[in-house]
Amino acid sequence: MPITTTAHHQPYTTPRGTASIAFLSVIAYAFIVLFTITTAQETQFIYNGFKGAINNLRLDGLAQIHKNGLLQLTDFTQRKTSHSFYSKPVIFGRNHLSFSTCFVFAMHPQIVNHSGHGIVFVISPSMNLRYTGLAQEYLGLFNSSNNGKPSNHVFGVEFDSQQNAVFKDINDNHVGIDVNSLISADPVPVSYYSDKERVWKTLRLSSGRPMQAWIDYDGVEMSINVTVGPIDESKPSKTLLSKHLDLSPILLDSMYIGFSSATGLVSNSHYLLGWSWNQSGRAQDLDLSKLPSLPKFKSHWSRLNQVIVSVLLSVTSLAVLLIGGVAWVIRRKRYAELEESWEQVYAPHRFSYKDLFTATRGFRDSELLGVGGFGKVYKGVLPSTGVLVAVKRVSHDSRQGMKEFVAEVASMRRLTHRNLVPLLGYCRRKGELLLVYEYMLHGSLDKFLFTRDEKSSKLCWSQRLKIIKGVASALLYLHEEWEQVVLHRDIKASNVLLDAGMNARLGDFGLARLYDHNSDPRTTHLVGTIGYIAPEANRTRVPSTRTDVFAFGMLLFEVGCGRRPIDPQADTPEDVILVDRVYNCWKKGAILEASDPKLEGDYVKEEMELVLRLGLLCSNPKPQERPTMRQVVKYLNHNPLLPEIPSDYNPEGSDFLVEGWGASSSLPSSSFPPSSSETMSIACASSTNSVLQSGR
Ligand SMILES: *[C@@H]1O[C@H](CO)[C@@H](O)[C@H](O)[C@H]1NC(C)=O
Repeated sequence: MPITTTAHHQPYTTPRGTASIAFLSVIAYAFIVLFTITTAQETQFIYNGFKGAINNLRLDGLAQIHKNGLLQLTDFTQRKTSHSFYSKPVIFGRNHLSFSTCFVFAMHPQIVNHSGHGIVFVISPSMNLRYTGLAQEYLGLFNSSNNGKPSNHVFGVEFDSQQNAVFKDINDNHVGIDVNSLISADPVPVSYYSDKERVWKTLRLSSGRPMQAWIDYDGVEMSINVTVGPIDESKPSKTLLSKHLDLSPILLDSMYIGFSSATGLVSNSHYLLGWSWNQSGRAQDLDLSKLPSLPKFKSHWSRLNQVIVSVLLSVTSLAVLLIGGVAWVIRRKRYAELEESWEQVYAPHRFSYKDLFTATRGFRDSELLGVGGFGKVYKGVLPSTGVLVAVKRVSHDSRQGMKEFVAEVASMRRLTHRNLVPLLGYCRRKGELLLVYEYMLHGSLDKFLFTRDEKSSKLCWSQRLKIIKGVASALLYLHEEWEQVVLHRDIKASNVLLDAGMNARLGDFGLARLYDHNSDPRTTHLVGTIGYIAPEANRTRVPSTRTDVFAFGMLLFEVGCGRRPIDPQADTPEDVILVDRVYNCWKKGAILEASDPKLEGDYVKEEMELVLRLGLLCSNPKPQERPTMRQVVKYLNHNPLLPEIPSDYNPEGSDFLVEGWGASSSLPSSSFPPSSSETMSIACASSTNSVLQSGR
């Protein structure tokens, strides 16, 4: 280790004067130099690592020098102090208080983010701080009785990685000047100026990484400058802490320089890698390439702790995995769809369940439009396009016949008529089929016809007639004008929807077929809604265009009379069955008496009569005498004129409805007529006597 000795301050000599004066001066100068050599010895040193420095350092407490020259100040032992002093005193005098030092240190916390106490660069009159300095927040410098006393004559620069309220620490990562006291004067958070990036950057003391500190005191200017920086950059051009400070009352002639630190309940391992000191100019730069390397930081936790931590970690990761897995399964299940290879053909008609789920806000009750014929209908907004849709969830237990049905859905998509609700596509899940329709702004016709709230939704006669003509036109299209005959099988006011222009749009077409495809061959299904089912369909279970016409007749009555086909709450028993009521009025020669009182007579008499009489014709118990839809459309346009009701017309045939049902029980009025027009699908085992069969 190089030890050079120089005088700090050159004595003043005058250029004037004689040779003798010059000679004397030279002599005097030589004396002064000599004096300085003997008194202010070893004012400069540099350690690039501390290999072999043991004789020049006084270590106590936890301090030790590793084989590679690394000076370890503290380890994770709790509540201990540690000091490393340069073992010879440094001499300060009235005229040479200046000093410059730089060192490389590292702080490795025992627990990440819970750093222990810091390091203090210290100038002290004694090396025996181990007797007077306490551990923990006292940093091995002072004790509770001498802290703050001017008699200490201790100067320190603390690099503190813990915040202690008692000593007014600003944070857990600060640098402060400690003059006789642990309460630092003007502490600052640790940061350095990056000359490359021209910004101040935070430096974390207890990062475990080596960093450099420069402490320069100018005894003439009486200013102290502290600078820090990462190990891989040269000394920053800007100092971190700069302060006017008169050290003359503190620094005695002979002082010791070194480092003090302490551990607490949680500690840092402190390391010193190199140290340079100079009292006659700037401290020599450390040769970073010669510095010892830090140990590979391993957790100093006990084996037990390690086991506990690893167990905890594995349990946590297992739990995370499990939760993730469950979430994944739930998500998969939630959005699971059924899709088979044969469906690829229909891919363009398919909606993803996830989209429909999002569209209907998870099929929330608030989005429920109604409980329709085959399931619940929800309002939705398609996430991709923002298009309003109605999504019908049809429960479908059997996969049998699904192929045919999907084929039919695909073909139903091709059914386009201005009076049909457009079917946009479908989606299939286990036990469930979802049909996506265009959303109809005004909802279903029955709400307008049967509502008690008269103001909001009264349909005037011209609107009603337009609706009737629209439905008739749609049915004609289904029966005769498309490439194959499509039976609706569930015509009723609640299946007639009204679009933004109050045009009638027939919905739910073709759906009844689902039950045929789904059916067990040993059972037959009666599809339709009580009150709308033609008598012969009750017997034979064979739907036809004529059974559709029968139901259309009922729809005509509903629109004309503003009543449901069966009204258990009617004032008189004769009025319960709507067709009987109309028939009786007709027989009396006063068919208009059956008209909807809500219209208050505000209708074209001929048209009302036409509608009601056409209703009677359509609901003729003899199927072969009912008109076809083509004829119906023509009659509605008065071309040709409506034929007379046949003299043998007898609506008695419909009585069986009530008899048949009434025989088993009187239907609860709350559910019958169905408030939202539930479709009754009655599966009757053909081998047993059903109520319907016995009723006949
Ligand atoms: C504190 O330190 C002073 C010396 O500065 C010493 O005289 C005193 O005994 C110490 N007190 C305790 C409590 O250690």
